[in-house]
Amino acid sequence: MNDYIKKMTTHVSVRDFKDIPLSPETRKALLTAARSASSSHFVQAFSIIEITDKTLREELADITGSAPYVKNTGTFYVFVADLYRQSRLLIENNKKLDGLTNMESLIVSIVDTSIAAQNMALAAESMDLGICYIGGIRNDVRKVSELLKLPKYTFPLFGLTVGVPASKNKVKPRLLEKNQISENYYPHEQFADLKEYEKVSKEYYSSRESNQKQTSWSESNVAFFEEIRRPEIAAFLKEQGFQLN
Ligand SMILES: Cc1cc2nc3c(=O)[nH]c(=O)nc-3n(C[C@H](O)[C@H](O)[C@H](O)COP(=O)(O)O)c2cc1C
Repeated sequence: MNDYIKKMTTHVSVRDFKDIPLSPETRKALLTAARSASSSHFVQAFSIIEITDKTLREELADITGSAPYVKNTGTFYVFVADLYRQSRLLIENNKKLDGLTNMESLIVSIVDTSIAAQNMALAAESMDLGICYIGGIRNDVRKVSELLKLPKYTFPLFGLTVGVPASKNKVKPRLLEKNQISENYYPHEQFADLKEYEKVSKEYYSSRESNQKQTSWSESNVAFFEEIRRPEIAAFLKEQGFQLN
């Protein structure tokens, strides 16, 4: 394993930052890394909004449920899945928007945005900075869009808080290799047999230094998926012009 990959295996989300802003050079490097990512059909269907205004950052932070580490961090970016540019091109060329507003194009823009963000995350970690994705901006997706003045054919996917770590959690044990990796076909029983991971994850949650819990990965996933979260997202996407067809 080379040093680059070793570093990836030490990834943890950081939720406790020193109050140190990132230098312009560091921020530039992060943005360049994000903008260098692969892109489906090279559509580059994302935008990145850096939140430099303190009041705006606080308003966004209060929506996220992750306020302390959105307010007190080096910098905070919002990643926007973005087909607005292409919508303008189509309109200027008197073309229909059906090929831009369907589910496939929405997936393309969400994938492009995620890949760019992960490039930034890896770049940050390569500089010993800490990151945490903030899906919590979707707690009030309409308010976030209003605050950021987002146009149609865009969707605020998540934030990324980046800064100098003050403390870090232990690395979370991932699903076992046999639960996720296969050759040539999908082994239904093997992938869904979580007994061994149940023990590993229980041990992790009960012994970690902060936020100890008597739970397992399976239990927390049942609790997570038995609830319908953010049911307004589909309606919001339609308001943004996506047909979801
Ligand atoms: C798209 C996405 C959204 C996330 N949103 C939040 C969030 O709003 N707040 C938070 O504290 N962590 C958030 N996380 C971090 C995950 O909780 C974290 O990655 C996961 O628990 C695994 O832990 P690790 O990153 O430390 O390995 C998010 C992660 C991803 C990929």
